[in-house]
Amino acid sequence: MLLGGDNNNSSPFSRPSGFSSFLFLSFLLSFTTFAVCVRAESPPSSSPSSSPSTYSPRDNYLIDCGSGSSEQTSLDDGRTFKSDHESSSYLSTKEDIETSVDSIPVKAKSSPCPSAYPLYRSARIFTGESRYRFFISQPGPHWVRLHFYPVPHSSIKLTDAVFTVQTDKFVLLHDFSIGNTTSLVFKEYLINITGRLSIIFKPHKDSHAFINAIEVVSAPGSIISDAASTVAPRDTFTGLSNFAFEVSYRLNVGGPMVTPKNDTLSRTWLSDEAYNAFPEGSEAVSVEPKNVHYPDGGATPYIAPNWVYASAQKMKEAQVMQPNFNLTWKMSVDPSFSYLIRFHFCDIVSKSLNDLLFNVYINEFMAASSLDLSSLTDALSTAYYKDFVLNATAIKNDSITVQVGPASNAQSSLPNAILNGLEVIKLSNEAGSFDGLFAVDGTYKGDTGTKMKIVAGVGLLMGVTAIVFLGIVFVRWQRRPHDWDKRKSFSSWLLPLHSTKTSFLSSKSSSRRSSLFGSRKSKSGYSGLFSNQGLGRFFTFTELQNATQNFDENAVIGVGGFGKVYIGVLEDGNKVAIKRGNPGSEQGINEFQTEIQMLSKLRHRHLVSLIGFCDEQSEMILVYEYMANGPFRDHLYGTNQPPVSWKQRLEICIGSARGLHYLHTGAAQGIIHRDVKTTNILLDENLVAKVADFGLSKAAPMDRGYVSTAVKGSFGYLDPEYFRRQQLTEKSDVYSFGVVLFEVLCARPVINPKLPREQVSLAEWALQCHRKGILEKIIDPVIAETICKESLRKYVEAAEKCLAEYGVDRPGMGDVLWNLEYAMQLQEASTQIDHPEDKSANLIALDKPCENLSREDLAVAVSDNSEIAAGSSLFSPVGKVRGR
Ligand SMILES: *[C@@H]1O[C@H](CO)[C@@H](O)[C@H](O)[C@H]1NC(C)=O
Ligand SMILES: *[C@@H]1O[C@H](CO)[C@@H](O)[C@H](O)[C@H]1NC(C)=O
Ligand SMILES: *[C@@H]1O[C@H](CO)[C@@H](O)[C@H](O)[C@H]1NC(C)=O
Ligand SMILES: *[C@@H]1O[C@H](CO)[C@@H](O)[C@H](O)[C@H]1NC(C)=O
Ligand SMILES: *[C@@H]1O[C@H](CO)[C@@H](O)[C@H](O)[C@H]1NC(C)=O
Ligand SMILES: *[C@@H]1O[C@H](CO)[C@@H](O)[C@H](O)[C@H]1NC(C)=O
Repeated sequence: MLLGGDNNNSSPFSRPSGFSSFLFLSFLLSFTTFAVCVRAESPPSSSPSSSPSTYSPRDNYLIDCGSGSSEQTSLDDGRTFKSDHESSSYLSTKEDIETSVDSIPVKAKSSPCPSAYPLYRSARIFTGESRYRFFISQPGPHWVRLHFYPVPHSSIKLTDAVFTVQTDKFVLLHDFSIGNTTSLVFKEYLINITGRLSIIFKPHKDSHAFINAIEVVSAPGSIISDAASTVAPRDTFTGLSNFAFEVSYRLNVGGPMVTPKNDTLSRTWLSDEAYNAFPEGSEAVSVEPKNVHYPDGGATPYIAPNWVYASAQKMKEAQVMQPNFNLTWKMSVDPSFSYLIRFHFCDIVSKSLNDLLFNVYINEFMAASSLDLSSLTDALSTAYYKDFVLNATAIKNDSITVQVGPASNAQSSLPNAILNGLEVIKLSNEAGSFDGLFAVDGTYKGDTGTKMKIVAGVGLLMGVTAIVFLGIVFVRWQRRPHDWDKRKSFSSWLLPLHSTKTSFLSSKSSSRRSSLFGSRKSKSGYSGLFSNQGLGRFFTFTELQNATQNFDENAVIGVGGFGKVYIGVLEDGNKVAIKRGNPGSEQGINEFQTEIQMLSKLRHRHLVSLIGFCDEQSEMILVYEYMANGPFRDHLYGTNQPPVSWKQRLEICIGSARGLHYLHTGAAQGIIHRDVKTTNILLDENLVAKVADFGLSKAAPMDRGYVSTAVKGSFGYLDPEYFRRQQLTEKSDVYSFGVVLFEVLCARPVINPKLPREQVSLAEWALQCHRKGILEKIIDPVIAETICKESLRKYVEAAEKCLAEYGVDRPGMGDVLWNLEYAMQLQEASTQIDHPEDKSANLIALDKPCENLSREDLAVAVSDNSEIAAGSSLFSPVGKVRGR
């Protein structure tokens, strides 16, 4: 098993113990990353408008966690949060993977509601590590907002819960506990995300995690620029785009709270009252918000809504009191972090330009001296903002103090100073954390003696590894095959783990190859590890464009719910089938990841192999081995393909049964295909059957034996028991396979609404005919005459058992397989023994009873003559089937 992590509970984040485990870990991480994307259907929530004060986020995930069945939660600010039920596809808890129920939705109708928010009525509790996964369609900054409120629960005290919350790259909360509080905790982050986002909840040992609501919403790219000023010393700071941000304070100075309703980006601006350290000296002023102007460059309604700029604190009665003093705000912060401090100014107090000149201080350091808003905006009542970075080293007494006071060189009659809005934003630290010094992989990034030891140890380890590696390279070089230079690449002889597939490895650029040696710099950099693990490779979008003449319509060989399937020719001349997902389909994303997850764990002659995939540029593309003869159904009816013989059909059924049997029993964890049908059985150039399309597949839990899940599958093949009870078992596949067997025998659609009512469903009709003893009447006339009676009896018996009403009465795939093989033996033996050489006696075998054959005869017949039988025209009456 390649994905060992499933079995041995080892956390993928545990510290690697050596180079090989580093590789494995990187692989695991990369795999996890690839497997987890979930598609936003993300329709812009508000109607598009030319007005600058509306913003339609491309990604807009709002989830009211733990909320009951299906009703959405609408807030009075106009936003609608999806219920748990609707958003279950984003969440993966152990529940989906293993058996224990790890998350319990809690509904507490009568709990005290700390704010008007209906979001705090319910929470979702996790008893094991769980993650929400979101597909991000617009790369760039995103708000990640988390709402915590300890909803009362009969047995679990959420106030005692201790847990860690992290994304793929940042630790948001480490061993967080809401504590003995009945008030809610709201956390807001701004993170630059490309491609996908996981939010992972990790309960502390023996504890729980919980969450009431989650928001993941696109923010305008311009919201935080790369550069800011520093205060001690005064300089310019660049590189803000390398940080993630957590909003610590956001104040509408001199005005009331601004709620998400009045903010284009659904932010909340608190009143400054609680932080004003010298309220006696300050006086709130405000104007009509519509009188606030936004300049052509600089501040926009995205930076802050006009409600913020329309109110301010100014110096009170400045001429009466001691003429010079400062307005002061004090906010407590974690002193081990650096902060971005954003001041919002708008001169709503002056009567004329250049009348207001003031200084700005942060923690007693001069941040801006003699700030003259008029000269910066050339107008009054015009929005202006300025960013400063305050280094952690400049934070004393666990607080940030912000002051504004009149400049000494102010020429105006009245010394004054104002502040309209203030944001204090925490920068992620060197561990990629907002809470302590533990990184997402659990490593401690603190500045201690052990750090040096770790560095030294890692250095030594890397040195040793490098020597060993070079040794191996040298030895391999010595033993290089003589034709190595024909194989085009260095890595192809270095890593011929997949000897038949080396061509895939060798066909691509050297930058990707360099990733084999451990650099994890780009997404495509994982491909080397993928190939190394035999999981197929990462394709670039350009590569696949080239392979399909830019997805030419003429290259389309199939169309499904997921998207179109193209035939493609890779650089090395290999033909592949390229399945390209519709970018708009949310279902597609789920199936895309399921398919990669499932297929990468499985290798079998009768399962279609995944060669690789591409998820560049929000694409979802899977690359499979090319199956020259296409879907089995196309050889049964509805096309102009020449029909296949009974024996070929039997062979194909046996192959598919083997594939399904392996799925159910061969993999470490049983897998239920869930969509067994003749279009999902593909045939290669030799008519070897391979089961395809694992988009709906589910891992079957070991002990419980069924998965409770929404009913999915294809009409006509659907297990009625699964339909009734919504419990999926392997026996549901067996049922579908039974339908396939009758479809193969009768060569008609499994549902044909044009027929008289009792004949519409093939499964029912065939069973009915069989009971009445008139099944012969509906057998495909093309093969009817070539089927040996006994073979038919065995075959129909197997098919009938598969269609048993209750799953427990149906045989396992192993039994079905055995019966089909027996039917094949009977068929071969009858024709073989009676007409070994008589090729002209084409259809004489028809009514030859096979009863009087012994098992020994059969064995001999099969082992000795299958070759002859397969080659004789008698058994391939329709000849070789044309490729498409
Ligand atoms: C919370 O309150 C309980 C009892 O009211 C007390 O035993 C416990 O120590 C408190 N926990 C914290 C973190 O203050
Ligand atoms: C987000 O990150 C990407 C790549 O990491 C970078 O190219 C882009 O400029 C960043 N965007 C912002 C707004 O910082
Ligand atoms: C929010 O907007 C409404 C009008 O849409 C207005 O009546 C209300 O006063 C505003 N509230 C704040 C705090 O700005
Ligand atoms: C305002 O605050 C700064 C920094 O704390 C201080 O240096 C300055 O003297 C203060 N101004 C007045 C008039 O108190
Ligand atoms: C803060 O200062 C320290 C030491 O001067 C420096 O290493 C670090 O990069 C600074 N951090 C920020 C965010 O400016
Ligand atoms: C920090 O606290 C001490 C004692 O409470 C006080 O003397 C000092 O002025 C404070 N420093 C700042 C920067 O507030």
